Amino acid sequence: MSFIELAKDRYSVRKFSDKPVEQEKLNLILEAGQIAPTAHNNQPQRILVLNTPEEMEKLAKCCPFRFQQTLALLVCYDREASWKRADFDNADSGDIDMGIVGTHMILQAHELGIGSTWVMHFDAEIARKEFQIPQAFVPAAILMMGYPREDSKPSRLHNDRFEITKTVFYHNY
Ligand SMILES: Cc1cc2nc3c(=O)[nH]c(=O)nc-3n(C[C@H](O)[C@H](O)[C@H](O)COP(=O)(O)O)c2cc1C
Repeated sequence: MSFIELAKDRYSVRKFSDKPVEQEKLNLILEAGQIAPTAHNNQPQRILVLNTPEEMEKLAKCCPFRFQQTLALLVCYDREASWKRADFDNADSGDIDMGIVGTHMILQAHELGIGSTWVMHFDAEIARKEFQIPQAFVPAAILMMGYPREDSKPSRLHNDRFEITKTVFYHNY
């Protein structure tokens, strides 16, 4: 599959089967996150792997979604490690870095037949308490993962993309 075919084929999976993700596949997914570019190569990603029923119960306390996932990656960045635009406005690259790290991982997962949904709708403070996340770590995303259930299908939003002329502009046009 070409990259564009892979990117088009991926969709947010919100129904997972109970088949666990094999450790070697999880390792590849995590490696894809490890090699992602980050600002100044500071590599501030700190990824908590959640894959037990007890951890899924804790996850349910901070996140309202019930996808029956068998695996979740709580993607954090260390705000003491992320690059800051110190010469100008001190903007923090952490969220952008995590966007790239997470994207690498969900696309690698898809290539392996493992579905995912990126979740931002969660209570970061509860997650911090439940999983003893250090204060310097900022929880940026939860990537719900697992093998898609047989009846999993893309949501209406998956195919609901604007015309490219609405989102891309040529300066001299
Ligand atoms: C930053 C971000 C946050 C998101 N948060 C949630 C979320 O909290 N819950 C959810 O069900 N989907 C969430 N999504 C998934 C989007 O709704 C989904 O990617 C979008 O509707 C396009 O559908 P598709 O992924 O199937 O192509 C999020 C996606 C992104 C990129």
